[in-house]
Amino acid sequence: MLLSLVLLLSLSRGLAAADIISAVRDEVRGTEGQSVSLSCNYETISDYADLHWYKHPSDLQAPQFLLLKNGKGGSECKGDSVTQTEREVVAAAGETRTLGCTFETSDTYPYLFWYRQEENSFPKYMLKRYSKTSLNSEEFSEDRFDADLNSEGKEKSVNLTIQDLRPSDSAVYYCALQPTV
Ligand SMILES: *[C@@H]1O[C@H](CO)[C@@H](O)[C@H](O)[C@H]1NC(C)=O
Repeated sequence: MLLSLVLLLSLSRGLAAADIISAVRDEVRGTEGQSVSLSCNYETISDYADLHWYKHPSDLQAPQFLLLKNGKGGSECKGDSVTQTEREVVAAAGETRTLGCTFETSDTYPYLFWYRQEENSFPKYMLKRYSKTSLNSEEFSEDRFDADLNSEGKEKSVNLTIQDLRPSDSAVYYCALQPTV
């Protein structure tokens, strides 16, 4: 069986303007039983970098968190689970919509992320929520894009609300959970 792997990379922690990450090769092929290496190069102005690897088996599924490496050379761990409630949301321009994302983790203070993937593009980091801390990437201002983290109680959620919808908001939205290491 021929396997085809497409690289999906992201560099978190603020995503400063000078942060760059790119795949060495867009596509890597191997036969079953073989080993392959997927490589990417990054540049960052931050002192620390959290590097995430995701696996994205199909467009109908959210990317699955595989592992986290600290730029300083560190640790690995497996992802917990997230569930997105809507497959598709239809709205008119100017309206407000909420996309549900519930999750499970044993972590008391989990980090939750939302990503947006426009057609023929890679997922872009939108925002992260951690305990009482909110951080939005510059491109996704908090007055239009907000997520409410609920990590207490039985049903944990980090639903994303988008206000004043625009045609350019048509995209696939993913939420992701990063367990602490
Ligand atoms: C988040 O969305 C889910 C699914 O729509 C819903 O069950 C849950 O109550 C929402 N959470 C909050 C805090 O509104």
